[in-house]
Amino acid sequence: MPTPHIDAESGAIAPTVLLPGDPLRARFIAETVLEEARQVTARRNMLGFTGRWRGQPVTVMGGGMGIPSTAIYVTELARVYGVQRIIRIGTCGGLGEIRLGDVLLAQSASTDSRFNRMQFGGHDLSVSADFGLLRAAVDAAAAAKLPARVAPVFSSDCFYDGDPQLLDHLRRHRIAGVEMEAAGLYGLAMREGFRALAILTVSDHLDRDEHMPAEQREQGLERMARLALACAAGD
Ligand code: HPA
Repeated sequence: MPTPHIDAESGAIAPTVLLPGDPLRARFIAETVLEEARQVTARRNMLGFTGRWRGQPVTVMGGGMGIPSTAIYVTELARVYGVQRIIRIGTCGGLGEIRLGDVLLAQSASTDSRFNRMQFGGHDLSVSADFGLLRAAVDAAAAAKLPARVAPVFSSDCFYDGDPQLLDHLRRHRIAGVEMEAAGLYGLAMREGFRALAILTVSDHLDRDEHMPAEQREQGLERMARLALACAAGD
């Protein structure tokens, strides 16, 4: 039952999906963390793989960058493939006392995107992580002795040249991280009826112009994938 953007057969996508932005990261996770992983979709090179983790079926698939791309894949995963849980694993910019390499569990996601407003009569929609997944992620991080912080994040439509006051607004509201997808994912979870969480590694520091080296990003990715899998299993 392929969709316009996913060419997997029906039944080939697992009820739990890990969603990195980059399809090559999806392949990396499938090869390093999942057992018996096989490629199930490759339309537009947005690769997806289904395998097993501790016996349970799991899909890992790229979702692209930004809310519009993420929303296309997530909507089709939920509506056509009946996916029940989507855990985004990605990177974010950090603010204030947050340090490079810290893991944020995005409790809520504010945004400058109109995506949710368009579906909500122009009103502000308050979007948040699924509580069960968030609690399971906190427990899984504690069990793995991985310091992970539950935090509000901001999903921006602009990687470059956004609101010049944005960082001040974020600091004032004690928002810990900036990325580009969580608010759309959480809004879709409410409308489509699946459960969602975003797990983010701080790859850039927005006050200090610090950036994580590529090798460390890869380690961060594997750590997040293992945390997401433990969280899905413990939920
Ligand atoms: N802004 C938006 N998204 C990001 C950033 C950032 O600084 N770093 C990683 N993802």
